[in-house]
Amino acid sequence: MTQTEPELVAFPQDRTCPYHPPTGYPNAGRGRQPVSRVRLFDGRTVWLVTGHAEARALLVDPRLSSDRENPDFPLFARRLAATTQRRVELLGLDDPEHNVQRRMLIPSFTVRKATALRPGIREIVDRLLDAMAEQGPPAELVNAFALPVPSMVICALLGVPYADHEFFEAQSRKLLRGPAGSDVEAARDALSEYFHVLIERKRREPGEGLLDELIAKQLETGAVNLDELVRLAQILLVAGHETTANMISLGTLTLLQHPDQLALMRAGGPEGMTSVVEELLRFLSIADGLSRVAVEDIEVGGVTFRAGDGVLLSTAVINRDEAAFASPDELDLGRGARHHVAFGFGIHQCLGQNLARAELEIALPALFSRLPGLRLAVPVDEIPCKPGDTVQGLVELPVTW
Ligand code: HEM
Repeated sequence: MTQTEPELVAFPQDRTCPYHPPTGYPNAGRGRQPVSRVRLFDGRTVWLVTGHAEARALLVDPRLSSDRENPDFPLFARRLAATTQRRVELLGLDDPEHNVQRRMLIPSFTVRKATALRPGIREIVDRLLDAMAEQGPPAELVNAFALPVPSMVICALLGVPYADHEFFEAQSRKLLRGPAGSDVEAARDALSEYFHVLIERKRREPGEGLLDELIAKQLETGAVNLDELVRLAQILLVAGHETTANMISLGTLTLLQHPDQLALMRAGGPEGMTSVVEELLRFLSIADGLSRVAVEDIEVGGVTFRAGDGVLLSTAVINRDEAAFASPDELDLGRGARHHVAFGFGIHQCLGQNLARAELEIALPALFSRLPGLRLAVPVDEIPCKPGDTVQGLVELPVTW
């Protein structure tokens, strides 16, 4: 592929409507051309996959690698290009190395484990809603509810003190949205230092979280080393709260903008809360732009990826492919479609998906039933979307009731 083709559309682009993919993406919502070429911020040309069938085939294809240390790995945010430490545990590894780490963690993220966590999640949700009700309207929903719910849950699961949340939430923000490479590097170093200290403390005084378990079963036995465990803990902490927080805030806004669908959810959901959450996951596709690099030539959708080509997959456009979903641009809580790729697909499919579903199935209906008059406190076009090069969501959501 040539390195610069200025006529190609840019990737990523910012959403103009918080719950629709950017209108400038190729074939958005049509799925007519499953693979096209787009231009990254540095002028590099990469493939963009937008077809649902093609994406599912590619995401299980070992000829596509997730290895961030491969010099051809596509970086779609300027902040990532400036970092020197490229290794990412789990998410950034290929099998068999990836599988070793995934197997260590799977027992803590099963449906059964998520079910066992539900009463604790319910308690957290109720406590936060009580505080909101007590303080009275208006409120800023991201900080009052959407962020603390998953943040408290992942802290409890890992055994990380929630008292430190302001520190690690600020570092996560820099990692996911920092303007420059040096900020990303500094945030990663700060989190790394934090986990080194925490792990040393836990070695002396063990607690009951997943981190304690990993120290006892994996670190002390030599299955992982300290640096790997520190990086794994960072991934779990960051992935565990930013993503679900965005789903809660964006899900709330989307339901408020679709009153007929909100009424269905208030009535318990057309097929229960499971179908409500699946449809919101599909419709919002907050983790847009999965990244891979081809390590061998691959023929797909009438084109050939060459070894070394960068490949991005837009989950937001893939989940609007009309070959896979009827009337894909409509929010239809009764759709009952579980074949979306909002959690990815294949070996890296979201480890925390059962936990995320449990949090969303509890948080969203509880919010609307505890604050029945909930509505936006500002016009919808004054609510800014997060930039296109990060997990999609809202920076703030001013509400009243
Ligand atoms: C609604 C919320 C969430 C969404 C939309 C989401 C989305 C995703 C997606 C799309 C991937 C695949 C990335 C790829 O293939 O490159 C992924 C992987 C991952 N997610 Fe989530 N996620 C969510 C919540 C969570 C939570 C709560 C956790 C808790 C720890 C978590 C932990 C992870 C981890 C560890 C991976 C990497 C798995 C692997 O490489 O084997 N996620 N997530």
